[in-house]
Amino acid sequence: MDNERYTCIALRNAQNTLAEDVRQGLTAPRKWLPCKYFYDPEGNALFGQISELPEYYLTRVETAILNTHAARIIERCPSDLALVELGSGNSTKSRYLIEPCLVRQEELTYYAVDISPTGLEDGTRQLLHDYPHLRVVGVAAEFEDGLRYLAGGGDSGPRLVVFLGSTIGNFTEEEIAGFFAMLRSYLHPTDRLLLGVDLIKDPAVLKAAYDDAQGVTAKFNLNILTRLNQELSANFDLTAFRHRAVWNYERSRIEMHLVSLRDQHVGIANLDLDIEFRQDETIHTENCYKYSQGHIESLLADHGFQVLGAFSDPQEYFCLFLAS
Ligand code: AVI
Repeated sequence: MDNERYTCIALRNAQNTLAEDVRQGLTAPRKWLPCKYFYDPEGNALFGQISELPEYYLTRVETAILNTHAARIIERCPSDLALVELGSGNSTKSRYLIEPCLVRQEELTYYAVDISPTGLEDGTRQLLHDYPHLRVVGVAAEFEDGLRYLAGGGDSGPRLVVFLGSTIGNFTEEEIAGFFAMLRSYLHPTDRLLLGVDLIKDPAVLKAAYDDAQGVTAKFNLNILTRLNQELSANFDLTAFRHRAVWNYERSRIEMHLVSLRDQHVGIANLDLDIEFRQDETIHTENCYKYSQGHIESLLADHGFQVLGAFSDPQEYFCLFLAS
């Protein structure tokens, strides 16, 4: 790692909420778990595999849009830009934006904000090697903590804040409102937002993306139970639950569930809980909302953003929105 061009800041989130979230979710009349708990090291690795599945078009199509339109997107941003990526993961998509920036300006600072510090370092190593005029600041933090930190920092020039992968699709309406309000409070008028969103399409295509033939998404979903076994001394029998993905037309979302295959009891020792499951009862683990272009444009407008451009693929599967 080039230490002069790489800095990593780890912001500790003092709250460990897993235990409380699990207690709340699994004692509710309709059982549920927050999808953020998918992402332990095993979950991150499985999500990496999902991104490469033939059925999971999201990553491939978004990357193709960036490949085609990144120069045009950067042209519409102020010069002397800094890049801020929220949920940067392995930073594979950011290079499409880094390149046109470095054509226009001599140096660039890329702030990669992600909850996983090891992912940050692995993802940015190759970037530093490939771009000698790039400086990387890795911020290991939740999005809001990371943005707050960056807003208080010395860099006052224009920034392009990038939020890709349709992660916004995993937010509820209230979470979107909170997220946009938080962005607005940290962004300056010269800053820009680039938002990647998965669009509504043929339900068969959507369903296959979340229930792939190789069963990787099923493993990803079930891994949340492994995590509860490991971190809360639960005794989930993974063979007694099955992955299910359904398209909820009214709510325009894919829902992921874990279905109990029989009547059973599961103990969670660290919470001193015994949870009863009936056969076919489910734990709702994730919502993946799909939007129309117009819906996202009006959500952005409702929250005070002005849409400067929308960039899609020929099939209109996915869309990148540039806003100020
Ligand atoms: C991270 N997020 C945008 C993914 C999605 O498509 O909603 C998570 C995922 N869940 C199942 N497959 C992928």
